Amino acid sequence: MKPLCLICCATTVILFCSFQTAEAFDSLDPNGNITVKWDIMSWTADGYMATVTMFNWQQYRHISGPPGWKLSWSWAKNEVIWTMLGAEAISQGDCSAFATDPLPHSCARTPQIVDLLPTSIPYSEQIANCCKGGMLPSFLQNPVNNSAVFQMKVGLAGTSNKTVQLPQNFTLKSPGPGYTCGPAVKVPPSLFTTDGMRYTEAFMTWNVTCTYSQYLAQKTPSCCVSFSTFYNSSLPPCAQCACAYLPLVLPTTAMTDQPDVLYCTTDMCPIKIHWHVKANYEEYWRAKVTIINRDFSRNFTDWTLVIQHPNFNNFTEAFSFNYKPLNPFGVYNNDSAVFWGLQYYNEYLMHAGEDGNVQSEMLFRKDSSFTFASGWTFPHRVLFNGDECVLPDPQDYPSLPNSSPRLTATASTLLSMYIAAIVAYLTIVLFL
Ligand SMILES: *[C@@H]1O[C@H](CO)[C@@H](O)[C@H](O)[C@H]1NC(C)=O
Ligand SMILES: *[C@@H]1O[C@H](CO)[C@@H](O)[C@H](O)[C@H]1NC(C)=O
Ligand SMILES: *[C@@H]1O[C@H](CO)[C@@H](O)[C@H](O)[C@H]1NC(C)=O
Ligand SMILES: *[C@@H]1O[C@H](CO)[C@@H](O)[C@H](O)[C@H]1NC(C)=O
Ligand SMILES: *[C@@H]1O[C@H](CO)[C@@H](O)[C@H](O)[C@H]1NC(C)=O
Ligand SMILES: *[C@@H]1O[C@H](CO)[C@@H](O)[C@H](O)[C@H]1NC(C)=O
Ligand SMILES: *[C@@H]1O[C@H](CO)[C@@H](O)[C@H](O)[C@H]1NC(C)=O
Ligand SMILES: *[C@@H]1O[C@H](CO)[C@@H](O)[C@H](O)[C@H]1NC(C)=O
Ligand SMILES: *[C@@H]1O[C@H](CO)[C@@H](O)[C@H](O)[C@H]1NC(C)=O
Repeated sequence: MKPLCLICCATTVILFCSFQTAEAFDSLDPNGNITVKWDIMSWTADGYMATVTMFNWQQYRHISGPPGWKLSWSWAKNEVIWTMLGAEAISQGDCSAFATDPLPHSCARTPQIVDLLPTSIPYSEQIANCCKGGMLPSFLQNPVNNSAVFQMKVGLAGTSNKTVQLPQNFTLKSPGPGYTCGPAVKVPPSLFTTDGMRYTEAFMTWNVTCTYSQYLAQKTPSCCVSFSTFYNSSLPPCAQCACAYLPLVLPTTAMTDQPDVLYCTTDMCPIKIHWHVKANYEEYWRAKVTIINRDFSRNFTDWTLVIQHPNFNNFTEAFSFNYKPLNPFGVYNNDSAVFWGLQYYNEYLMHAGEDGNVQSEMLFRKDSSFTFASGWTFPHRVLFNGDECVLPDPQDYPSLPNSSPRLTATASTLLSMYIAAIVAYLTIVLFL
């Protein structure tokens, strides 16, 4: 089955696909960022003690783990990390200049820091808010636990606010290339309190802000949307080649470069979102949303789904997903919502195949603009795990009965195009 699938997918890519690019600016989360706050808590003989906190201020882009986030920076001078609590550098680097016992935790010029698992060290040795297996939920999903902390003792560094130098080139190596971090910027020192009465102050604080762009990630989309309605039997499918991934063109590189093993579909998306307009009541209407996993190699734990639809201003209930309205400009234009899995019930989206789906019904109270005409009941934007999903071709949107029919490609034309495509592909393979 697998080679056949690769052939059909590769054929799809070669003959039908043109590649899409994503938008650079996310209007649904215009201020979304991950901030790294670096607090110098005390000076030491050759440097300082630092507490580093990462905050995920994004609305719906979470980092799931383990292994989760991986943060790196380049030291400005020859700093080393003597010790680290709550996280670890993945490489010790070249510590041959040291004769100390123990050696520094890391002498790497560009250390890469990863989180620890809660189970990997005794609870008594954990610092507050550390060791979450790299998970960083978004602020909207979890406003309490949207941060992660580690502490380190930095040596061969300045020992005063005049001699210390800011590290450069902060990078979120994981979750990946879509994040870009700005320079470290000195900010007013953080204040700390345990009782709300007495405050202590960091000696020095700097912030680094990292933002995500699907465009920079240069990622092809990873999900597509299909529709159905109770009032029209036409089923607008996922757009053809919505997620076509170029390396699949050569099946040999596909096996090594592309670990995802997908169902063969003409859209080639690992995730499909199906939006079904299910029922019409006097004051309400109901839609059913299904998330379908078609990627055999992943189970998408910890997913998020963002849907933009004008009727979210009168959204009433989601039945089996967590739900929060998204109000990107802080004004009352509530036309979008974030959904994510209920713990235990469907948090583990899912193994690919028949059982690989989660569903929720959604109830909307009709507002004054409600209509079944002109595709009003369909979402304007859908994002899965923070990345834009491709909507069906608007000319396929089901219309109300009685509206004027339109020309569409018939099944037989599509089938003959398909056969031609496979023949063409086999010809290419034979001549390679
Ligand atoms: C990062 O996000 C927070 C919370 O939304 C916001 O207050 C802050 O201004 C953002 N930082 C930058 C540099 O955009
Ligand atoms: C940071 O990156 C820039 C551009 O890549 C490079 O020129 C510079 O040397 C880097 N800084 C450090 C400390 O590695
Ligand atoms: C936050 O994390 C702590 C420690 O992991 C946990 O005990 C607490 O239940 C979490 N709170 C929320 C709201 O998730
Ligand atoms: C260093 O700290 C001193 C004392 O708190 C302060 O007056 C001075 O402005 C600081 N200098 C820098 C460069 O931050
Ligand atoms: C630095 O980042 C922290 C955490 O996001 C934030 O509370 C603080 O306001 C930021 N400072 C400045 C000056 O932006
Ligand atoms: C799917 O999730 C379960 C539960 O977290 C995990 O044990 C399993 O290894 C995951 N499978 C894959 C293929 O990631
Ligand atoms: C939009 O959402 C906010 C916060 O949930 C709520 O207070 C406000 O009433 C909503 N506005 C409209 C027009 O639905
Ligand atoms: C829908 O929401 C808008 C804005 O919040 C409100 O003015 C209107 O009364 C609501 N309509 C219904 C039918 O609840
Ligand atoms: C269903 O929608 C399609 C696409 O808009 C349209 O061509 C067709 O006429 C509609 N069917 C009926 C029964 O109205």
